[in-house]
Amino acid sequence: MSLSTERSEIIHHLPPDHLGRSLRADVRAGLTASPKTLPPKWFYDKLGSELFERITGLPEYYPTRAEREVLELYSAEMAAASPAETLIELGSGSSRKTPLLLNALTKTGSLRRYVAVDVSDTALLDAQSELAPAFPDLKLQAVAADFETQLHLLPRTGRRMIAFLGGTIGNLEPEARARFLADVRELLGDDGGSLLLGTDLVKSPHILVPAYADAEGVTAEFNRNVLRVLNAELGADFDVMAFEHVAVWKPQEEWIEMRLRASRPMLVRLPGVAMDVHFHEGEELRTEISAKFRPEGVVEEVETAGFAAVGQWTDRQNRYAMTLAEAV
Ligand code: SAH
Ligand code: AVI
Repeated sequence: MSLSTERSEIIHHLPPDHLGRSLRADVRAGLTASPKTLPPKWFYDKLGSELFERITGLPEYYPTRAEREVLELYSAEMAAASPAETLIELGSGSSRKTPLLLNALTKTGSLRRYVAVDVSDTALLDAQSELAPAFPDLKLQAVAADFETQLHLLPRTGRRMIAFLGGTIGNLEPEARARFLADVRELLGDDGGSLLLGTDLVKSPHILVPAYADAEGVTAEFNRNVLRVLNAELGADFDVMAFEHVAVWKPQEEWIEMRLRASRPMLVRLPGVAMDVHFHEGEELRTEISAKFRPEGVVEEVETAGFAAVGQWTDRQNRYAMTLAEAV
């Protein structure tokens, strides 16, 4: 389905039963696994997207501010190194930091179009209405699509910069991350073009853990929201507040794990997948990994996928890196 106005359009690539079929497949696989897991993309219904936006303003959650700082300092350099006709942003969410990049690319004289890609159509709609008045000369497109499986449906022509901001690449498992980077490279084809990748960096757990376990409890609500999505979409009867939010740093893997811990034994009915799932007291369901990176590791991963890193910038406190990589 496509809804067009004079200069902006929303294109729905997610199949009509995405919330049903794809969610059911993930729930069947994840809740029969040991330990139980759920993929993080199911956090982001309307409430989940709003909770994430609240997280970005929390005192403990520095990545959004750090990435904004990198863009404020260096987006002109990034744009000059890789002028693009189309900016495609994956997992764009509210697109709040994107104007920094859009302004820098506009100044190079190259930019004609911005394509925002997200699974959350409410986030896409809100972002469009913010951006449209600010960028009257740009063609704005919002695409509801899954960046893990639907990159082939995105624009394939012209000089493109693909931005993946916020550190969202860290939410993919290592194998999925390698697959994703190879798919992005494939999307760019032989026309050149670049990937601009935001990655949170490895640092002390004393900073990392509070970023995922804030004092106000917003991240806990974000985490529990995945159970609310299962209740709404699959008719499940999770007692959401009976699950405690857990955030742990795994030093070996260099990632934060978010989990939900059952505070008592529970039998949860999930009619939408014809399953009853038992949780023993203290059992943990893993809902997200958030990998943290080392600058040289990011270069190695993008180069393995067929890119050449041409620039890397960090915020003043070296908490967060942005890497620009050209398709070669
Ligand atoms: N880039 C923004 C938002 C980050 S939150 C920022 O830097 O603040 C992660 C975003 O990715 C959410 O908007 C979520 O809806 C989206 N997302 C998560 N998994 C996705 C997937 N598989 N395909 C497309 N979008 C996804
Ligand atoms: C979207 N993503 C990069 C966030 C992160 O930091 O991994 C999601 C998040 N989870 C808890 N807080 C924020």
